[in-house]
Amino acid sequence: MKISEDFFLKDIISIDQFDKRSVEKVFATAAKIKKTPVKKLLKILSGKVIALLFFEPSTRTFSSHSAAAKRLGAQTIEHQNPMQTSSVVKGETIEDTMKIIEQYSDAIVIRHPMIGTAEKAANVVDIPVINAGDGAGEHPTQALLDAFTIYERFGTLDNLTGLFCGDFRYGRALRSLLKLFSMYKNNTFYLLSPEELRLTEEDFRLYKNKGLNLIEINSEKEIPSYCHFWYWTRIQKERFKADKSKKILMPILSPELLEKKGNKKMIVMHVLPRIDEVDKRIDKDPRCIFLTTQAKNGMFIRMALFSLILGDRR
Ligand code: CP
Repeated sequence: MKISEDFFLKDIISIDQFDKRSVEKVFATAAKIKKTPVKKLLKILSGKVIALLFFEPSTRTFSSHSAAAKRLGAQTIEHQNPMQTSSVVKGETIEDTMKIIEQYSDAIVIRHPMIGTAEKAANVVDIPVINAGDGAGEHPTQALLDAFTIYERFGTLDNLTGLFCGDFRYGRALRSLLKLFSMYKNNTFYLLSPEELRLTEEDFRLYKNKGLNLIEINSEKEIPSYCHFWYWTRIQKERFKADKSKKILMPILSPELLEKKGNKKMIVMHVLPRIDEVDKRIDKDPRCIFLTTQAKNGMFIRMALFSLILGDRR
């Protein structure tokens, strides 16, 4: 269901539900929350219970949703790895699990390895469901936090030049972020990825038709020096069977590359977790905000979403 600036009791399954005004309502709410005293925030969801069902591992998305709920005064039911620790292990279906969790909570945040599971869950229950990542499908709250981080830095999501690097084939966060940027004007994005992990022709055409100026490049040499941001991702190894005889070579984010191809005003982002596509010496560079501002904004964006979905409507 489209958000149309009214989040109250709605599911968040895909960036397709959003228009620009709805995106900006989340940003305005997150910005306000960042400035609000802790005591006032605790009243927003006092008495509510939010369930977190993570059928796939997570550090950031799980912890930031949990922190967001608690910082707004809600309590949480937390299942990390329900495939091993809930009655799913005895054969209980996702549908029954969702119906039961619905009896105890006011909203459900779900991550699952299969595309479409969040939507399936939302169709079974009457309380809001938030998609925390469905396989190689979407990761809408990640896109909102990434876009918010860029918006905070540059004051706009139009007229930007960015470099995206990594796994476009299986990266759900990239898919959601490109969908979000498709709503904005005059953006040029350079795409750098191993041959095997390029955007499919279908996705490339889709984003192009929506107005994104996408330029696929073949090596670090082609990165322009005037990007507003770089956005790196890892290879989503868990989502495909790689040919073991053929190593997929990822471009490495390093201090030397930043020195050669970066500029003073840019920011460097990463969806995380990072594996070996980042040279850790780069962490000291203040332009790298993936372990700090970007990650923390994840909590503020999720606080904004919870308060818009479950908070008092007045
Ligand atoms: N960015 C992100 O989704 O990280 P986690 O997998 O740790 O939640």
